[in-house]
Amino acid sequence: MAFAPGKVILLGEHAVVYGQPALAGALSSGVTVTTRPGRGRLRVAAWNVDIDRHDPSPLGQAFAALAARLYPGSEGPGQSAGLDVDLEVEFQVPTSAGLGSSAALAVALCRALARARQQELGTAAILDAAMAAETVFHGKPSGIDAAVAVHGGFGRFTRAAGWTPTRAARPVPLVVGHTGRQRDTKGRVARVAELASERPAEMETHFRAIGALVEQGIAAVLAGDFAALGAAMNENARHLEVLEVSCPEIEKMCTLAREAGALGAKLTGGGGGGCVLALAPGREDAVQAAWSRAGFTSFVTQVGQVGQVGEARQGDPP
Ligand code: PMV
Repeated sequence: MAFAPGKVILLGEHAVVYGQPALAGALSSGVTVTTRPGRGRLRVAAWNVDIDRHDPSPLGQAFAALAARLYPGSEGPGQSAGLDVDLEVEFQVPTSAGLGSSAALAVALCRALARARQQELGTAAILDAAMAAETVFHGKPSGIDAAVAVHGGFGRFTRAAGWTPTRAARPVPLVVGHTGRQRDTKGRVARVAELASERPAEMETHFRAIGALVEQGIAAVLAGDFAALGAAMNENARHLEVLEVSCPEIEKMCTLAREAGALGAKLTGGGGGGCVLALAPGREDAVQAAWSRAGFTSFVTQVGQVGQVGEARQGDPP
């Protein structure tokens, strides 16, 4: 059995694709993969999926891309592509929700394959294979989801420098609510790219402003200042609206959360649907009740500690 955590992006999604920093944390739940002797079948019982790497679906293509990176040169006719086990996938986070389930799946698959082969796979090799799978799912990912799935904990990510673990002065409590709509990472990333080519100077101003909010947010978590973190989240949400990655449900959930006492609320991940985060210390019940009355499901979690989640179960060599 192998595990990788899902994630939330506290600040900085989309701008991170354009080189700005982002702040993210691992969830305590994620994806587990169990291996059995077999011939490279990939099963997701919850979806009634039972495929191999030749399946034309995005999942099949991602699986093939991952195996080709892990075991290059073994994917020819009659060869097993290194897949001499069957893999059973269980998602403990909602999928297509902006909670990093696809990256967690890719990382958990790498770990499961390595364990089945009693092979030591380093972080760099797992990241490389997970990015190949993520590229199938998302087009041109920044790598933040894969970085959190591999490293766990809490930290700052940039495309240039990768993952830097960060320890919050105190755990950051979050309410995570689902809009009920699938998030649309590929579509929203493509729309932001269109805007960036149509109005480059204006979009660059937004990306830089989001980057500055990430730095303010990091300073706030280091100081345990939730009011400042919440303010950065609210400001970040306004920029995300201009980038056209919000949707009516996201805006409604943010408004409800703030009315219920949240210090900050914003979408997390690709947007266009998916999940919303609310920072509402001591007011979590009120936010959940307001969302529930409006038909939105939610759960409470916390992020902020290095190695708090994910890492304890990884045991990867560096
Ligand atoms: O929707 P998710 O969980 O895959 O997050 C996407 C984050 C983006 O910044 C929008 C894209 C990226 O590759 O960083």
